[in-house]
Amino acid sequence: MGASSIAVAEAREQAKALDREDPLAFTRAEFNVPTTAQIASTRLAEDSATPENDDDNKSVYLCGNSLGLQPKRTGTRINQYLRTWATQGVQGHFKPLADSPLPTWLDADAKAAELIAPIVGASESEVAVMQTLTTNLHLLMSAFYHPDINGRHKIILESRAFPSDHFAVESQLRHHGLSPETSMITVQSPFSQDNVLSTYDIMSVISTNAADTALILLPGIQYYTGQLLDIPVITAFAHKHGIFVIWDLAHAVGNVPLSLHAWDVDAAAWCTYKYLNGGPGCIGGLFVHERNSLVTKAITDPHPEEGYTNRLAGWWGNDKSTRFAMANKFHPVGGAAGFQLSNPSVLDITSLSASLEVFQLAGGVKELRKKSLKLTGFLEELLNGMSEEDRAIFRIITPSDPDQRGAQLSILLEEGLLGGVMTELEKRSVIVDERKPDVIRVAPAPLYNTFEECVAFVEAFSEALAAARKTKV
Ligand SMILES: Cc1ncc(COP(=O)(O)O)c(C=O)c1O
Repeated sequence: MGASSIAVAEAREQAKALDREDPLAFTRAEFNVPTTAQIASTRLAEDSATPENDDDNKSVYLCGNSLGLQPKRTGTRINQYLRTWATQGVQGHFKPLADSPLPTWLDADAKAAELIAPIVGASESEVAVMQTLTTNLHLLMSAFYHPDINGRHKIILESRAFPSDHFAVESQLRHHGLSPETSMITVQSPFSQDNVLSTYDIMSVISTNAADTALILLPGIQYYTGQLLDIPVITAFAHKHGIFVIWDLAHAVGNVPLSLHAWDVDAAAWCTYKYLNGGPGCIGGLFVHERNSLVTKAITDPHPEEGYTNRLAGWWGNDKSTRFAMANKFHPVGGAAGFQLSNPSVLDITSLSASLEVFQLAGGVKELRKKSLKLTGFLEELLNGMSEEDRAIFRIITPSDPDQRGAQLSILLEEGLLGGVMTELEKRSVIVDERKPDVIRVAPAPLYNTFEECVAFVEAFSEALAAARKTKV
């Protein structure tokens, strides 16, 4: 690849064959893939739907790690939701409509939990579709982080955690009157220049701080490097030391198979706008293992609050049977739903559920992962096969072991090239994202990306590198 047009032609033929053999190729038609004209346009399109059968004019969108593409059925379902609201008003909360595929609004959260449960490997009662990622991390910490300055008070997180996670942890510590200097421990790799963390790196920090650590917050997939951590092994090790672990699954959910219940995960939270294609800022989700969300005392007990974990509460977490009784004694429903606060945005849930229908069509994340392994492996092979000249100025920092990554490859560019490369890719209607100072993240999503798009990316990337080299700052 790179300089040789023969190599490009061969790779394209190979990609075409792989696309033809791909049993999941059909799900691409479920998505609005922006055309090159739309990507370049500075005007609001008349109609969001892209023309059918014009694959040649599509942009190359490899940015599902940041914002997933819009499923076509999202518009259909949102319109049905709008029509319900327009014609039923408040009755939409509880009146089923015989020919509507949508649940009543009162049941929308439970229905969405049913759809998300297999994606994270949990029972329906262990998941709730609610709030947003950072809020959910705070809610989980408010319930499960009980620091004791003379005992367990530390929180362990990675040194290059996504800023929001870092802020959440720091502010939780301060909220409890603690200082990040003494109570926050960050993990970094002493060996990897790119801070790819080995399980050993993490375990040794846990061991060193085992006696006074209360909580660990780690990402399932690290946003910058794309590394997939060993969730079950790290969780088990933390449990051995009596530590509660919360996983941030922003980049893992819908991307790699998860078995949160079987892995004995304590709690986790995620967003839905990346691989789950819910739409920008769409409602998030959380998982609470069933052992952590029990409600063991009846509301008639003199002290019902002793029968469940205290948490920041709101009426939507209250037992459904007494939620509308308007009494002021909080009694949570058992399970993750008991961590809800407000009535959720049905607009958001409708959008998310539309995309989750497509996951069902695809046969679930396990099927998608089979394709994803091939797709990302193919992209990696193409990148590694680029010319010596190109290879000299970039490096893939995502682990080469497919078991240690999801769809995303993070490409570290030589200093000073990022701006130029991004501009050149955009000129060629190739959409990826950048993480400063020097990384571009490229994520072929198995629901809508093709092998041919991997070739198109590498071709454009080679041209972008050549152009950026000339204008390097
Ligand atoms: C790993 C990670 N954590 C946290 C967040 C913050 O998410 P939100 O803005 O939905 O709270 C993001 C957003 O992209 C993320 O990638």
